[in-house]
Amino acid sequence: MIFSLNQSSNVTIPRCNNYKLIDHRRNFPAKFLVLPPLKNPKFNKFSIVSRAKPLNVSSIQTFGSFQRLPTKELCVVSKAYEADRSEGESVVEKVEAARRVKIGVYFATWWSLNVIFNIYNKKVLNAFPYPWLTSTLSLAAGSAIMLISWATKVAEAPNTDLDFWKSLFPVALAHTIGHVAATVSMSKVAVSFTHIIKSGEPAFSVLVSRFVLGETFPISVYLSLLPIIGGCGLAALTELNFNMTGFMGAMISNLAFVFRNIFSKRGMKGKSVSGMNYYACLSLLSLLILTPFAIAVEGPKMWAAGWQNAVSEIGPNFVWWVAAQSVFYHLYNQVSYMSLDEISPLTFSIGNTMKRISVIVSSIIIFHTPVQPINALGAAIAILGTFLYSQAKQ
Ligand code: 3PG
Repeated sequence: MIFSLNQSSNVTIPRCNNYKLIDHRRNFPAKFLVLPPLKNPKFNKFSIVSRAKPLNVSSIQTFGSFQRLPTKELCVVSKAYEADRSEGESVVEKVEAARRVKIGVYFATWWSLNVIFNIYNKKVLNAFPYPWLTSTLSLAAGSAIMLISWATKVAEAPNTDLDFWKSLFPVALAHTIGHVAATVSMSKVAVSFTHIIKSGEPAFSVLVSRFVLGETFPISVYLSLLPIIGGCGLAALTELNFNMTGFMGAMISNLAFVFRNIFSKRGMKGKSVSGMNYYACLSLLSLLILTPFAIAVEGPKMWAAGWQNAVSEIGPNFVWWVAAQSVFYHLYNQVSYMSLDEISPLTFSIGNTMKRISVIVSSIIIFHTPVQPINALGAAIAILGTFLYSQAKQ
């Protein structure tokens, strides 16, 4: 006889007393991991049978270790089970609610720090157009903060070996290229324009995965690239202050960050360094890679002359602007890596897109960036495309 089994009815479900709350995000592919799908987490945590999808079994006697019990006994077991379960459920609900609050705080902090970074970064670049130095200073500030935190035991130093640093190298190289390219872009065009082009990152991710790694995607993913590419293209064509270096910088940054994410996923498999320390090591290695190039491309002579100009134009406060852009760069990245520890890459990329919206809107307001309606439409289409992409990737 075929019948449907609803777990809440009259069977006992075996369960370990010392159960561990399994972090499903680490054990299942990204398509299961977006925040909203946790419709009924309590059943996910404790059940071996999903209530959302009742099982069809041929006979209850043959179903695993379930046993038929006499009806009276069954009621007692059922009540005890229900009481025990509801206690467990409320614990899980609390844990889940706390996790959501924590992620919410991470996201809000990440976006706010990013907006502050972008504003100070642009203010500095307007007065002191040396993006190679400012990029280096951002990494230097982060490295110094973390070295001091480790030395003073404010943060626990990571336990790393040579293999770790070897696997980190390609990640750091891609991070360095992506960071400098984005900063060069922002030194040439409006912050909002750089971020509109950077919202096209998913398109690069799919194209690299398809043509370099040979991965395939459902047709809906490819279709979602159309508004991303079309929207970015429209925004670029109608940008009032278009500049090819600025445009190419944002494009190179997109490409570099896609490779950074791929290398980072490969390199970190099986390693146990926290998100915060992982980003700290990334900053240190990127700083070592970038410093000689920054000296070769710009160099101390240019920096000294540029600094004097900036200070005479802005005043002594200029140094605080530089400090702010450097420190906030590290802080927003550190928080973003800490949130990556807590969420799936997919949720992360949705958070990143929302971050871009807050940066685009706030920078347009603060810098009085002129925007034509058609240009805003292009940006909106591109951002909508990134949302469609994240939905299609599920
Ligand atoms: C950088 O300087 O590294 C970029 O501004 C980073 O951009 P993103 O973190 O917004 O991708």
